[in-house]
Amino acid sequence: MKKLVIANWKMNGDLNKINADLGYYANLPDTNGSNVILALPYIYIVWAKQRLLVNSQIKLAAQDLSHYRNCGAYTGKINGEMLKDAGVEYVIIGHSERRSLIGENGPILIHKVRNAFDSNLTPIFCVGEPLSARSDGSYLQFIELQLSGLEDIQNFKDIIIAYEPCWSIGTGKLPTLAEIQEVTNFINQYMQKRFGYVKISVLYGGSVTGQNARDILSLNGLGGVLVGGSSLKVDDFVAICSKA
Ligand code: PGA
Repeated sequence: MKKLVIANWKMNGDLNKINADLGYYANLPDTNGSNVILALPYIYIVWAKQRLLVNSQIKLAAQDLSHYRNCGAYTGKINGEMLKDAGVEYVIIGHSERRSLIGENGPILIHKVRNAFDSNLTPIFCVGEPLSARSDGSYLQFIELQLSGLEDIQNFKDIIIAYEPCWSIGTGKLPTLAEIQEVTNFINQYMQKRFGYVKISVLYGGSVTGQNARDILSLNGLGGVLVGGSSLKVDDFVAICSKA
């Protein structure tokens, strides 16, 4: 079975790029698969679903959802049901940029995961240590703490956990394969022990490129990759998908 390749476009792209890139991916065997998931800016999701991906197996993710579950007076927020309406199946929660730039904390993220489950969206829950925790050796404890909030959730459903060390995101600094394997094994064991009754996939994200994707994707038990910068470069993204 092919491994997952998730593109996180962040706040990038415009209608021209969406039309050009998605039109191209929808016609290529390597990128037009159900293992390929695109996390586009909210505003382009409906267009992508209804115009560009009609005959495609490519799936869509949102980059976030509101921690408010029901409709109401929450200006600027988007809830899980709205994402579902738009054709979204997955949602990224707890990306390190939202944790550090927007200050999202543990309880809010757990509400978001719960809301995703309630709307039948699969969460892509991001965890990863800052450089300080890597340097002082406390990275596994750091990640365990990030995962531990999930234990408060009842009715747990299928989930994707993305290991993204903060110091590797957008920096070109890739951990060694042994370092990735150590942490993804740890996450797999932690999750299996507590939530082994659902489907759990553990991914890696941070400076993944067409050049290093083959080695990363061949790691034991790894379910795929979450790609930022390289997902905006068509050639690089096609190269990553071809190795999945
Ligand atoms: P990057 O970002 O691939 O540009 O390092 C990964 C991410 O933010 O998910």
